[in-house]
Amino acid sequence: MIVIVVILHKISFQPLCLPEGPYPGPPFFMSLRANQPIGVFDSGIGGLTVAKAIKELMPQEQILYFGDTAHLPYGDKSTAAIQAYAVKICDVLLQRGCKVIVIACNSASSAAYELVRAYVGSKAGVFDVIRPVIDYLRERTDMQDVGLIGTRQTVGSGVYQKLMKEEAQKNCHALATPLLVPMIEEGWIHNQISYQIIENYLNEVVLANVEALVLGCTHYPLIAKEIREYYGNRVEVIDSATVVAQSLKAYLDLHYLTNSGTVKGSDYFLVSDLTDNFQAVTKLFFGAEVPLEAYPLWE
Ligand code: DGL
Repeated sequence: MIVIVVILHKISFQPLCLPEGPYPGPPFFMSLRANQPIGVFDSGIGGLTVAKAIKELMPQEQILYFGDTAHLPYGDKSTAAIQAYAVKICDVLLQRGCKVIVIACNSASSAAYELVRAYVGSKAGVFDVIRPVIDYLRERTDMQDVGLIGTRQTVGSGVYQKLMKEEAQKNCHALATPLLVPMIEEGWIHNQISYQIIENYLNEVVLANVEALVLGCTHYPLIAKEIREYYGNRVEVIDSATVVAQSLKAYLDLHYLTNSGTVKGSDYFLVSDLTDNFQAVTKLFFGAEVPLEAYPLWE
């Protein structure tokens, strides 16, 4: 009998009634289907690093990406402004039928995760880029002192620091590194200037003696190699994009929302302001050029 029920659910793509997943949220999504897209949003193009990691792990999933290029950088915006943008973007992703919304921006995750969860309710799952890293760190009982680099918003919000302490029992040593985003967007990677800037930041006393360093910004996977070279084997460099993709897969599997691979639609990449430059840098972050579509948030 149980086998028949499971088969019927699978055929109709209806998730079973399951216990709550790894993150707080609706315990099950009766109206959601596995073949709906995964919504991913960021302040701009940087969140494509997260979309790329998701795509690499789950190529059968359809991605609907939204980059709020009209309002970037979020890293220097107020919490209230980021929350207002986030809600608008969620409306777009929900209208387009996303089964889960991934806040693929550390600044937006630190400013708007709770609000987005409350706003989206049971209409979709909500995922951010901070909690999966905290879960990963919780398991790492072999380390105590963890460094964090990110935007002013991410570091200033204190969210990573609080969660690391309360939920992963780690001491967080955080440093805002605001020059790194414009540096990477300028394409200054693996050159004299980038090595110098990275070294200057990582030499800061607050990061002395860390056992691991969390790359708390969408852009930093692009300089992960340089950061690893700086530390040698002394410090583990944690790329949140990879951790998030793995955690998302586990979450979708748990809720029977992983696409079987037979019904994938095309991916879409929407931006609130479209310029040639945004189009040109997609390759840098996604590994392949992707066609951006203009989708102004406020007319
Ligand atoms: N996406 C942002 C983050 O991860 C970096 C770029 C910005 O400041 O908007 O914090």
